Parts: sequence; structure tokens; C-alpha cells
Amino acid sequence: MTGESGNKAVYDMGAENSRLASCVSPLLSWYGKNKRSLPWREDPSAYHVWLSEIMLQQTRVEAVLDYYRRFLEKLPSVEALAGCDEQTLLKLWEGLGYYSRVRNLQKAARIIMEQYEGNIPSDPEILLTLPGIGSYTAGAIASIAFGLPYAAVDGNVLRVSARLLADEEDIGNEALKKRRKAELETILPKDCPGSFNQALMDLGAMICIPNGAPKCGECPLASGCLAYLQERTAELPVKAKKAPRRVQERTVFVIRHCGKLLLKRRPPRGLLAGMYELPCAEKKLDRSEALSFVRELGFEPLFIEELPDSRHIFSHLEWRMCAYLVRTDELPEPELKTEEYRLESSVEIAGDIPIPSAFSAYKTWIHDT
Ligand code: ADE
Ligand code: SF4
Repeated sequence: MTGESGNKAVYDMGAENSRLASCVSPLLSWYGKNKRSLPWREDPSAYHVWLSEIMLQQTRVEAVLDYYRRFLEKLPSVEALAGCDEQTLLKLWEGLGYYSRVRNLQKAARIIMEQYEGNIPSDPEILLTLPGIGSYTAGAIASIAFGLPYAAVDGNVLRVSARLLADEEDIGNEALKKRRKAELETILPKDCPGSFNQALMDLGAMICIPNGAPKCGECPLASGCLAYLQERTAELPVKAKKAPRRVQERTVFVIRHCGKLLLKRRPPRGLLAGMYELPCAEKKLDRSEALSFVRELGFEPLFIEELPDSRHIFSHLEWRMCAYLVRTDELPEPELKTEEYRLESSVEIAGDIPIPSAFSAYKTWIHDT
């Protein structure tokens, strides 16, 4: 060691890099034998990799597989995606949630058509300028589809590397994420950066798992893993607690009129922007308040039944819902209160109108006539 304080960071970075560097070869040989067979790995074009990475944000691999196939059957190219109408697009995403992901996907596709002649850029700096593409996705596309030497650092990679290095920093810290990306890019094998990144992802998904104890006994990196050697795998990584989610109470209405269902369009900005939902009151209503609510909408209730309570968790918000099934007077068809409302048949809803997963507890009543 030298006495110059300025050298300390350089020294530590070197130690971390050499520990990470010694993982490369065992990790790649483990990946060669154990990699998951995933549809986007069969033909890792930039479009396929991009789509898979966007779907995989906040969604598990198993849940994504069927959506991925169906999406590509309908929209096999950037051009098809750019030209798709909004309802079809949202319907393809129905059930995956976080619809801004697919809206951004389309916005980016349109930019790629207009500014890049339909070719997805390979340069991460340019990818980062496209809607919905952050550092992780840019790195994944550049490395997996184009073989360029960029790391793709997500929560899995942060967890695995924090354990390998017994690093106690908060993995939610953006500065750490940047530093880890730079470290990984110094040791990443230049001939197969995509395999290296995906090997870390698979190790994080199959061996160095997030919930429950990691499977260190099966891990190819155990002999060089500080958390394992120091028996600290249970306490690493360190992750600061997030602020608690806001809770919103709602009363959900399944209002049936002559075999049709009343839907209401959400505002064009914000949560579930522009999507159709069941009409809701923004608090819990008892039966008589619920009847008044329905009358306010211009419908005369004939029948009302309480449906089960449910809840839905968004990233920053939780809906706690009570619900009523209401059948209304047959004729005349009431004038809808405002143009956000529409009456639709079950057939149209099943075929064309995506209903957010937040209402999936009421699926039976939405689709039954
Ligand atoms: N999770 C996110 N992207 C992935 C990929 N390309 N392979 C495996 N798991 C992933
Ligand atoms: Fe994770 Fe255990 Fe492997 Fe270390 S030895 S990387 S803690 S699975």
C-alpha cells in the first residue's frame, strides 16, 4: 500500500475487478451447460431481444413466454409494431400490466422507422434516447443482439455481484449501479458479452436467487464468493426499505344493462392511462350509497349484489376494492353521463377491449352476461 489517500479507491476497484474477473470462466462454462432455453435466445435479433427485455421488466420469465410468442405472431417486425392501432396493442399486453411499457415500445418503434430507416440502433448512447430504454435495456440489446461489450445491470446482477464481493452498499443506489456497470465492462469477455450478461441473469434466477437461501452448493462461483466464504449470504445484498405504498379504497361496479357492460375510460395521463375500467367510486360505499351512485350515472338499478373484496398492488399504490354487481332497468337505454362511458358486449370486451389486471377478481362477472 502507498500512503497516498487518493490511491485507495483505485486499489479497491482493482480488488473487486480481479474477484469478478476470476468468475468469468467458471460462469461461462456453467452457462454453456445450464442455460435456460428461451424463445428470444433462438434468434436474438435486436427486435426480439428488445421486446423480451421490456416484457421481462417487473414480470417473471414463465409469465412472459406466451405473451412473447403471441405478440410476435401479430407484430413480427418494428414496422408492424409502429403501425399497430392502440387497442390491438393494448390487447396484446392485457394481463402483463404496466401498459406504459408497451406504449413506449411503440413510440420508440415509430422513431426507429422515421429516423433510423427501421433499423434498431446498436449504440447504447442512441438506444438510451428512445422511450422506455434505460441503461439496463440498452446494455442488453447492444450485447445480446449486437455482440458489443456492454454490461446489462439489473437487480439480479446487483444481487449476485454484492454477494460475490460481500459488498454492503445499498443495491438501490444509482451510483453503485453505475460503478458496477463500469467494473463489469472491464472484465466482460469481448468475444461473448451477450452470453456473459445472460449467464449472470440465469445464475441470479436459478442459483443465486432473490427470495430464500441461494443454492451455493450448486454454484460455480462458490470458491471465490466472499458472502459464501464469510457465511453472510443471508444478509447480502443490502437493500434499503422503500417508502410504503399509498393505499386507495375503491368501490367497483359491474353494471349490466341488456347484456352489455358499462365501462369508463381512464384519463389520458397517469395510472392505466386511457384504458377502459369498471366504473369506480374512490371510496368504499355501502349498499345504499352504491345504489345512489348507479342512479347518478343515469341507470335505474333492478338488482344489486355484493361481490368479493379484492386488492391489487401497483408499484407505488395499492387498491383495496369492494364491489357490486348491478343489473339495471331494460329500457329505454339511458343516455351515458359523459363520453368517457360506453356500453359494450362481452364479445367485444373479450376480443378488443383490454381490461386492466387490477380487475381480474371480477373477470367472471365481466364476461358473464
Ligand atoms: N431476465 C431479463 N432478461 C433476461 C434474459 N435475456 N435472459 C434471462 N433472464 C432475463
Ligand atoms: Fe450466490 Fe452462493 Fe453463488 Fe455466492 S456462492 S454467488 S451467494 S449462489
